[in-house]
Parts: sequence; C-alpha cells; structure tokens
Amino acid sequence: MRTGVSAEVTPVATRESVIRRMTRLAVEHDAVNLSQGFTDECPPFELVWAAVSAMLGGTEAQMARLDGASLRELAPGLDASDIVDRPLKQLLETLQGHQDSLNQYSFPFGLPELREAIADYTQRLYGWRPDPETDITVTLGATEALASVLAGVCAPGDRLIVPQPYHEMYPAQAAVFGLVPDYVTLVEDVETGRWTLNRDEWEAAALRGARALILNTPHNPTGQGLFRQRPRVHRGVGCAPRAAGHQR
Ligand SMILES: Cc1ncc(COP(=O)(O)O)c(C=O)c1O
Repeated sequence: MRTGVSAEVTPVATRESVIRRMTRLAVEHDAVNLSQGFTDECPPFELVWAAVSAMLGGTEAQMARLDGASLRELAPGLDASDIVDRPLKQLLETLQGHQDSLNQYSFPFGLPELREAIADYTQRLYGWRPDPETDITVTLGATEALASVLAGVCAPGDRLIVPQPYHEMYPAQAAVFGLVPDYVTLVEDVETGRWTLNRDEWEAAALRGARALILNTPHNPTGQGLFRQRPRVHRGVGCAPRAAGHQR
C-alpha cells in the first residue's frame, strides 16, 4: 500500500480557482485546456429533440403532436413549395404551441420523473436505490448542492472532514462559510487499484469534532466508488454535535 497523496498537503483557498486560471492561460497562449473536460460528441438526438419539442410544444399534448406529425400536417396553411423555401426559423415559429405548461417553475427539488430516473440509474450502476422522495435533490451542479448543504448544516467555526485528493471547490467553500477543513487521505492499494479511506484517520477527524463529512462518489479524481450499498453514518465516525454557542 502507498499513500496516493501526501498527508502533508496543506490546501489553501485560492483567489482564482485552478480551473479558472488554467482556462484563462489556455486562451491566452492558445494551448489545449486540460483543466476542463470537453466532450467531442453531440448529445443523443433524442435528448436534443426532447428539449426542442418541450420548448416549442409547451404541453405534453403538443409535444406528442410535434413528435408524430409531418410538416404538411403541422402547417396545413402552407403548400409544399412554401415549406421547402421558407427559412427554418419561420417554420419553427409556425409550429410553436399557444399554451405552455412545461416551461414554467419546476419542482424546486427536481421533477419527480428526473428523481425516479436518478434512483433507477443508481440502482443499475451501484446496486442500491435511493428513495426519490427523501434521498434525492436535483441542483444546478455540485457547487450549488454543496454550498446549500454547508450553509444549512454548518456554522462558522465548525470542522468539516474532506477526503483528499479533492475537487478544488471544497477548501474554497469551507473558507467562504468560515469552516475548518480536516483532511483525511484516500489511500491507493496499487495491487488492486482500489482507493479506501483510512478508518483510523477518519475516526480521529470525527472525534476532533467534525460537523460534516464530504463524500463524493464516484470520487473525483480517483474514480473510486465509495459505497457499495446505501451509505450509513456510523456513530462516532459521522457528524459530531455542533459546539455550544452555534445557532442556526
Ligand atoms: C467532485 C466534484 N465536485 C464539484 C464539481 C463542480 O461541479 P459543478 O460544475 O457541477 O458545480 C465537480 C465538477 O466536475 C466535481 O467533479
């Protein structure tokens, strides 16, 4: 066994994030930007079409109509040559529904269908199914999710367990909320390629009085899945009561 990242690493919240700095430098020097992952594939057409037809249709019924009908049926006032010569934008405008119930406020915690799909996906990939009603909240990315949780659960001065290596956002968000990060190291077994949390190190950090633990799974950057079943917080290894005097 060897340690993947030195325990001596002392993370600091930077003024400019690494991703932001690398992106700025890549543009400046016309270099390949390795700090962000860019796909070179288009999204599946069904996904694009679902977005387009929801925007144009505005209701489930109009989406179904757009899905199945030909242009001749959808734009009956236009003859064939008119359809062929008309700019696409104008044609799409004639197809826009007059009612709209889809492009409105969503469920604040994610559409039920989306939460069901995430639960199914978790079941398929990881073998356990979170409850879509109580275990899943959809957010605008991980940054919003973590900021909301830290703001809701922690108070300035609380300790926060952060496994390292970690995404650069964690120490920065800890700094924003006045939290004290306590780093525990994921250790790689070079024989199996598995990364695990050292339980003694984790327990020691919890006993120092951590309020919360950030567990990112599958973990970035190691790719390690950190639980094979529904995660459970164990007494003494999970969160400690908040220090007296903190109120939220
Ligand atoms: C582990 C981890 N945390 C946070 C982020 C930031 O996520 P977002 O851009 O969704 O806010 C990422 C992005 O890749 C990530 O991998």
